[in-house]
Amino acid sequence: MTGMQDMTGGRELVMVSNRLPVDRVVDEAGNTSWRTSPGGLVTAVEPIVQSLGCVWVGWAGSAGERLDPFDIDTMHLVPVELSEEDIELYYEGFSNGTLWPLYHDVIAQPEYHREWWDRYRKVNRRFAEHVAEVASEGAIVWVHDYQLQLVPAMLRELRPDLTIAFFLHIPFPPSRLFAQLPWRRKIVEGLLGADVIGFQQTTDAVAFRLTVERYTRAPALGNTIMIPETADAPSRTVLAQEFPISIDAESFAATARRPEIIERARRIREDLGDPRTVMLGVDRLDYTKGIRHRLKAFDELLADGEIDPTDTVFVQVASPSRERVDAYRQLRDEVEGTVGRVNGAHGTIGRAPLVYLHRGFSRDEMVALYLAADVLLVTPLRDGMNLVAKEYAVCRADDRGVLVLSEFAGAADELRDALLVNPHDIEGLKAAIVRAAHMPEEEQRRRMRRLRRAVYDNDVAHWAAGYLGAVQAAAEAKQAEPGGLVTEPVQVMTSFVPRSIEDRVRRLAALPSLLIATDFDGTVAPIVSRPQDARILSRAQRALDVLQESGGVRVALLTGRSLSGLAETGVRSEGWVVSGSHGSELVGLDAAEAGQAPVDGPLTDAEQQALARVTRRFERIFGSEPGVRLEIKPFGLAMHTREVPDPEQAEELLAAAVVLGEAEGMHVREGKMVREFSVRSSDKGTVLQRIRAALPAGPVLFLGDDVTDEDVFRVLGPDDVGIKVGPGETRAGERVPDPHTAAAVLALLAELRTGIVIGSSAPS
Ligand code: ADP
Ligand code: G6P
Repeated sequence: MTGMQDMTGGRELVMVSNRLPVDRVVDEAGNTSWRTSPGGLVTAVEPIVQSLGCVWVGWAGSAGERLDPFDIDTMHLVPVELSEEDIELYYEGFSNGTLWPLYHDVIAQPEYHREWWDRYRKVNRRFAEHVAEVASEGAIVWVHDYQLQLVPAMLRELRPDLTIAFFLHIPFPPSRLFAQLPWRRKIVEGLLGADVIGFQQTTDAVAFRLTVERYTRAPALGNTIMIPETADAPSRTVLAQEFPISIDAESFAATARRPEIIERARRIREDLGDPRTVMLGVDRLDYTKGIRHRLKAFDELLADGEIDPTDTVFVQVASPSRERVDAYRQLRDEVEGTVGRVNGAHGTIGRAPLVYLHRGFSRDEMVALYLAADVLLVTPLRDGMNLVAKEYAVCRADDRGVLVLSEFAGAADELRDALLVNPHDIEGLKAAIVRAAHMPEEEQRRRMRRLRRAVYDNDVAHWAAGYLGAVQAAAEAKQAEPGGLVTEPVQVMTSFVPRSIEDRVRRLAALPSLLIATDFDGTVAPIVSRPQDARILSRAQRALDVLQESGGVRVALLTGRSLSGLAETGVRSEGWVVSGSHGSELVGLDAAEAGQAPVDGPLTDAEQQALARVTRRFERIFGSEPGVRLEIKPFGLAMHTREVPDPEQAEELLAAAVVLGEAEGMHVREGKMVREFSVRSSDKGTVLQRIRAALPAGPVLFLGDDVTDEDVFRVLGPDDVGIKVGPGETRAGERVPDPHTAAAVLALLAELRTGIVIGSSAPS
């Protein structure tokens, strides 16, 4: 992989994971060799370290062996010893009997044992001590996955000079599930020792930030967590953000182009009896992967006669995994029983509809299998990402093949052109399998091309640039103020604009006239506890100023705040069109323009009376609730609950307010920890159309984060660009994770239009 060399700014990179990237294998004759460790972690991370070089601290895969450090290619491997008891309590116990099921939506029952936890702590400390010994001054240490969540804080204590990154390769559970863990606060504190915490999906990062706020009260400002000062340490920030992992797409594609691999794929089909359809499943033998559901669907299709066992073969590759853990042992027994039963019932002499391969294969053989398969079934019940799905897509440069993909795999966020299925719905799964087996070539081509593009758009180099870019920014911030207060959240320098948005912004930048409209809170100003403390990001302010000054552009701010509430934030909006109170207030158009965009007149007497009555009732009922803030607006009132200490109580208060507001005939709008009540219905979509009608024709770029911004996304046309900021359902065509990335989009547009570069630390 090219372009990786400067990713660490010349600092040493130390990888830490439970397993080294290679496992030590001793054969019967006592000869030892090394083979690539199982799982997606190594597939994703290995290409990065191959080009960067690193020290890698981890376990060599067998019990009680003390091994000296050794080198493989550009890696210096430092083995950590695990005794038989460590493996039982820390690895099979706490890591894979407690955390793995808990983090995968409790598909299996997690067990909580104090003995397991104690050993987890001890082994994490051992890893931290090894790293502290080998890492050079100022190195970047990258800790991987759920087995080592306490290492970041332990390491920070031992070696404050290090920059510590953590990446969770599996999902982070919703707060209500994480709450089960008796040691939940300790785990959160362990992770917060890192400077950057990466997750697979936005939902994981959001769940983590909520969990942090619940158990530590360290507030999150966008995707930055603010760790308050303590007696021994100054305040600092932790970036907790999603960085969906990927593969070295080109290296898989190159393997798939090799003539001998293509020939091998042909031979595989021949060996299978040249069936019309080859289906494939490739997984570690893990209960999260949905193998049982997949086999059940296949079995029923054979029994129903929908699949003909004489012309279809399903190859299930299941690599051995965690074989001493009960749930895995049970799974293996069950899967092997099912395979025997299905073949017994539907096979003929010389022909079995199910081929089950319980072992690891070389990369070449895996790629040949992908090329041989007409359909790949990736149907996990829950999966952090799933790289097998991505590997299949990039190997199919022939544009043939169909990917059936579970919506519960992180990969489903990116691979929208797969046949998406809910694996719990066996009928739906069966329908998708049949559809895949009969998909016309033209549709296969169209889908496969888009799937491939999606993987190339975010391949491992792009992923590493985002993640390591963030880590490097943290390292630089640390160097600038060693041990001191980091005043600017680190991700200010790191947000990178997704490629699909970059392309659309490029097109917009070249057009003669343009309306750039944005919401305020949660979009260009990170959400904070007290609305009056919200501030527009300096980069966004500067980009909007530059754009407003560039000919042909108008900037519009569409906010739910009243104009006076907006003024409290100090945003500079001279020359902009500004609409407040969800479209009820509008300023900034000149007289001629304003004639085209009339705003509703002042309140009638009846409306004033209604509003006064509702306001009195709200003040009486909710006015003295701790943390509740009532905001009086020109056309209504808003109830904010950001400062209510208990989140459940906040939800109940909001629900009660809605009942009351509706009973009073008010128009109700939902926002994040706010409900707005208005005597008049108006919305941001309507006001955007008014503003648009008053200005020269041209497309609109709109950015918004909240439910009320959906009214705008709804009225956008095909030439407009709508960008949702943050998680949640949306009608917008594009999404960025947070306000910092929204500011980066605006800065990119400003730069493309004017040539003025607005850096991430733009002066306000
Ligand atoms: P997980 O990390 O949970 O195992 P992923 O799908 O993300 O799941 O990654 C699995 C990785 O392991 C992929 O790179 C895949 O090619 C590889 N793999 C899976 N099964 C085998 C096997 N039997 N032999 C060799 N490699 C395998
Ligand atoms: C997944 C996990 C990795 C793990 C791998 C193999 O990919 O995210 O952390 O290493 O599975 O599991 P094992 O228990 O064999 O290391």
